Amino acid sequence: MTGKQDILLSKKRIDDRVKELAKEISLHYKDKNLVVVGILNGAFIFLSDLVRSMSVEHRIDFIRVSSYGKNTSSSGIIQLTKDVELEVKGQDVLLVEDIVDTGNTLSWLQTHFADKEVASLKICSFINKKERRVADVEVDYYGFDVDKGFLVGYGLDYNEQYRYLPHVSELNLD
Ligand code: PRP
Repeated sequence: MTGKQDILLSKKRIDDRVKELAKEISLHYKDKNLVVVGILNGAFIFLSDLVRSMSVEHRIDFIRVSSYGKNTSSSGIIQLTKDVELEVKGQDVLLVEDIVDTGNTLSWLQTHFADKEVASLKICSFINKKERRVADVEVDYYGFDVDKGFLVGYGLDYNEQYRYLPHVSELNLD
């Protein structure tokens, strides 16, 4: 990684928090028909750690939407490039995100899943970042609250780079 970087969230902190979240989620979805839906690409690392610590039965699917392109701020225009393939009507869907920033992506997805007549819809995001929030979305579960900064690692990218980092760093774009 070029440029200055500070580790904001260490691997240990992330591991501990993901386990706590998995416990909380498992309690809530006991005796429900849970489908965990990962929002590609960013959520793939968080989701894979989260589900392996969960103790409740569930199915997994993925959806892909894009709003950022190569920019560091959301265009606000959401494009669906891959829909879920499981039948989710009547199911309890948990959307898993790497980061909620403006909230535009999740706001769009809430409507998308409401149209599919799911029994319930909750949101779990690794990072909940409120600095640029414009859409009124409630994040039901989140790993960490972060005020500002452009974050990379643990699934989060800059131009598709740095997703593989086991920790989260703030990218200095200067
Ligand atoms: C990122 C991130 C979220 C979304 C959050 O996705 O993964 O899906 O932006 O931003 P918002 O709250 O401002 O809508 P991106 O389009 O960059 O794709 P990626 O998951 O492949 O990185």
